[in-house]
Amino acid sequence: MKSLFSDLFAAGSDTSSITVEWAMAELIRNPRVMARARAEIATVIEPKKVVVESDIERLHYLQAVVKETLRLHPPVAFLLPRKAESKIALGQYIIPEGARVVVNVWAIGRDPRVWADPEEFRPERFLEEDIDFKCRDLKLIPFGVGRRICPGIPLASRMVHLVLASLLQRFEWKLEDGVEPENMDMSEIFGITVARALPLRAVPVVP
Ligand code: HEM
Repeated sequence: MKSLFSDLFAAGSDTSSITVEWAMAELIRNPRVMARARAEIATVIEPKKVVVESDIERLHYLQAVVKETLRLHPPVAFLLPRKAESKIALGQYIIPEGARVVVNVWAIGRDPRVWADPEEFRPERFLEEDIDFKCRDLKLIPFGVGRRICPGIPLASRMVHLVLASLLQRFEWKLEDGVEPENMDMSEIFGITVARALPLRAVPVVP
């Protein structure tokens, strides 16, 4: 039980908090998207009520914001390594038996052959096209795929949406004096997870 819980804790905490931090950074950097996300929350949730889990399914734009965040900033950029059980042909490649296969999800999310204007943070793309985290064409697989797919998707999804919705519902967000959205440092640190090189520093303002 001890190792099960330490696995769950390790796999679930960093990944979810990094996702919220990247989402907030992208929202602050893209005021148009921030305004639309906040407007949706203000329309869907009655004034003075706090956001609860059951509201998430009605927050379609917020869901698109989370997908767009995980497209550009998948916390587990290379998934877990695979090993080929036998020689296999994959597209134009031959994978030899025993080869270690690393899937670069980060690169798929920024590939112009897969996504139009990949560097642009535009959640609307997920309103135009119905893509979920288990999509068959493997365009969006921040939780991995197949038998080893992340078992924490339901919890992660609830927590990330709920935390984001709460932060956006109650506050307007601004950057520290002297920092402009267009000059924000969006560098990454590659480790087991891909975090922001400089932690996000944002100032909540009560509207
Ligand atoms: C945004 C949040 C999260 C992301 C992006 C994420 C992503 C991933 C990825 C990419 C894998 C490897 C899947 C593969 O290689 O196919 C994985 C595995 C795993 N995740 Fe998550 N995860 C998140 C949250 C969570 C949470 C909340 C939990 C549980 C509390 C969790 C538990 C696990 C476990 C136990 C594994 C190993 C599964 C196995 O090896 O069979 N994850 N996760």
